[in-house]
Amino acid sequence: LVAGVDTSTQSCKIVVRDAQTGALVRTGSAQHPDGTEVHPDHWWTAFTEASRAAGGLDDVAAIAVGGQQHGLVALDADGRVVRDALLWNDTRSAPAAEDLIRELGDGDRDAGAQRWADDTGSVLVASLTITKLRWLRDAEPENAARVAAVALPHDWLSWRIAGYGPADESPLGPDLTALFTDRSDASGTGYFDAEASGPETGSDDDATPEQGAYRRDLLRLALGRDDVVLPRVLAPSESGGLAHPSVAGRDVDGGALIGPGTGDNAGAALGLGMRPGDIAISLGTSGVVSAVAPRRTADGSGAINGFADATGNALMLAVTLNAARVLDAARSVLDVDYDELSRLALTAPPGSDGLVLVPYLEGERTPNRPDATGTLHGVRIATSTREHLARAYVEGMLCGLADGLDALRAQGVPVEQVMLIGGAAQSPAVQTVATQVFGLPIGIPEPGEYVADGAARQAAWVLAAASAPDATAPAWSTQVATTLAADPRPEVREQYAAVRDLL
Ligand code: XUL
Repeated sequence: LVAGVDTSTQSCKIVVRDAQTGALVRTGSAQHPDGTEVHPDHWWTAFTEASRAAGGLDDVAAIAVGGQQHGLVALDADGRVVRDALLWNDTRSAPAAEDLIRELGDGDRDAGAQRWADDTGSVLVASLTITKLRWLRDAEPENAARVAAVALPHDWLSWRIAGYGPADESPLGPDLTALFTDRSDASGTGYFDAEASGPETGSDDDATPEQGAYRRDLLRLALGRDDVVLPRVLAPSESGGLAHPSVAGRDVDGGALIGPGTGDNAGAALGLGMRPGDIAISLGTSGVVSAVAPRRTADGSGAINGFADATGNALMLAVTLNAARVLDAARSVLDVDYDELSRLALTAPPGSDGLVLVPYLEGERTPNRPDATGTLHGVRIATSTREHLARAYVEGMLCGLADGLDALRAQGVPVEQVMLIGGAAQSPAVQTVATQVFGLPIGIPEPGEYVADGAARQAAWVLAAASAPDATAPAWSTQVATTLAADPRPEVREQYAAVRDLL
């Protein structure tokens, strides 16, 4: 058996699967506090609760962790977190991102943006870890001075699973050099080049094409020093060591191997078995449009992040901050549940008779408008109905993601069909409007925990590679259950674009 973990913004989910067939054996989950600033101990507590809910992990032979990307988990020399983790959805470091862009461009913003894209795959936005380090340096210098290691949420949880942590809270104590990560999550830090093929300015000397390389020169630019421990970057099927027997693998000969883990988007891509040419649109707390490609491009406009996937390819992403929460906002305004919201939205006509929501409800990342608010345009007596409002919210959310799809096309990514995933993808209104706004066939995969499933698939791969180093990822992955035909309604996008361009 293998276990896959998803330590997400809101909860911890665990799936236990058969390593050979992929058959689902047990699951468990637990909520933890969410928000934009969270103490990592909540993730550990949720993990232990989710393990218990999954019937324990004593019988698993490998485990891997997928997690929310980018969060800054700064550790001191005793392995304690220096402050609450600043998460991907925390926008306080937006000015720091702008400063760093200009600094790398010697004062020229466009040149700086292109250099970040060339060097790391992504133009900086507040989500990326490096901007949070600059913010820490400037806003909390006493905390910045205590930083001895910088980890991401999934690296930190893997480290705890291996038995490390503060001396009074863990069996193995605070060995910071035992931290490890993978290319996908490292590629979202802003101080890592997933496609570096050897030693280069500021990178670690032992870089290999399979692993990429840290850019300590960029870390130094942000933090003012680079003498911090960074997690060792493992290859896609390399094990980072053994889980502590008090956590997992107690009943398994040799103990449970820990996989390198992944960022959540790469985890979902692995769970879905995405290959070059596949596009996934995920409607979670963030909205993510992603494509697997053999190599990343360097989009100086910043719309596309050129991250790595969990197999050795690139994962090109456009991320919006306004996805499922837009529907939550609509439910709250209308005081309805998801089913009723969907029914209302499907009662209004496509385009909602000109009622348009531009859904930057608490800022936006793509386009990069951290301080934006939402706009409702075209309010008339005739459009002041619950049905029109419901439809405008659904259309507005999906039009924002369609902008991300266009940005992928602009990078030369072929876009022919999309898989719609995440909780909101089950809504009939979302599915119908998606066929209209994207104008493409929409595949709906079997419901599942795609990130945890991807982590489980990685764990099975690590287990196979332990005895056969050339093993490839196991063939099992989530299948598309339903495909809906395209129903292009270009006028909906046109209305939206006209209002968006006014802002
Ligand atoms: C990706 C991103 C989000 C988080 C959500 O760049 O910021 O998708 O990974 O967990």
